[in-house]
Amino acid sequence: MNYPHIPGPIGVFDSGYGGLTILSKIRETLPQYDYIYLGDNARTPYGTRSFEIVYEFTLQAVNRLFLMGCHLVILACNTASAKALRSIQINDLPQMDPQRRVLGVIRPTAECIGTLTRSRHVGILATAGTIRSESYPLEIHKLFPDITVTGQACPMWVPLVENNEAQSDGADYFVKKYIDSLLEKDPLTDTVVLGCTHYPILAPKIERYMPPHIATVAQGGLVADSLKNYLARHPEMDAKCTKGGHCLYFTTEAEEKFSESASTFLNEPIRVERIEL
Ligand code: DGL
Repeated sequence: MNYPHIPGPIGVFDSGYGGLTILSKIRETLPQYDYIYLGDNARTPYGTRSFEIVYEFTLQAVNRLFLMGCHLVILACNTASAKALRSIQINDLPQMDPQRRVLGVIRPTAECIGTLTRSRHVGILATAGTIRSESYPLEIHKLFPDITVTGQACPMWVPLVENNEAQSDGADYFVKKYIDSLLEKDPLTDTVVLGCTHYPILAPKIERYMPPHIATVAQGGLVADSLKNYLARHPEMDAKCTKGGHCLYFTTEAEEKFSESASTFLNEPIRVERIEL
């Protein structure tokens, strides 16, 4: 592929708005870099889709971000990280451009788990796709084989967020339902990972229904710290990332729809452009 070889922004991809929770933490930690955010809002949610489709959509997005000049792309989406990241890293990157990198959000989260849990019983709330992929238990057990990992799919949470219903009264029922169901499966759980980048938007409701002795872990800060660390360890990649403090937004859905919702996620007005993948 003929990708631009000059330095460019860091790409941040999600199936929809969820990745904005990661982007805002990354920008807080690393404000000096330029970013491109791409949300595949027209085809969200990914969580209920097959491996093949999530892989195909994610590869299209990565290719587009490379064409836009990104040398480093963060999949700010657990479902894409679970279902597509490994194949892209192993099979596609060597042909696309072996110097470019794609990183996910599951590994940085798994790395922190060992220091957070005391009971060694950890719960994962995520999309059906992420839970079915078993990526969390696999990644956590590589590092901490003694930890018991229990997953709970929350298929209604992403639609609540994508439809701006996260703060509505109707959301309470589904928030409580999945938390209760996770804790029934393993009452020894003391740490719960919000394993979907959309879920921090439901934080006020999650706090209401999560028992107070349980620590809830959101990924934004963990991913931001991990990226900072990565760039410090890879000066050759750092040199390929432009530093102007700007962020451009792209969506596959209508521009007005994205900017209206994204502004509430980011607490600032943004300009967005629609593209097709
Ligand atoms: N935000 C994404 C994640 O972290 C996926 C949401 C979806 O499209 O289902 O899993």
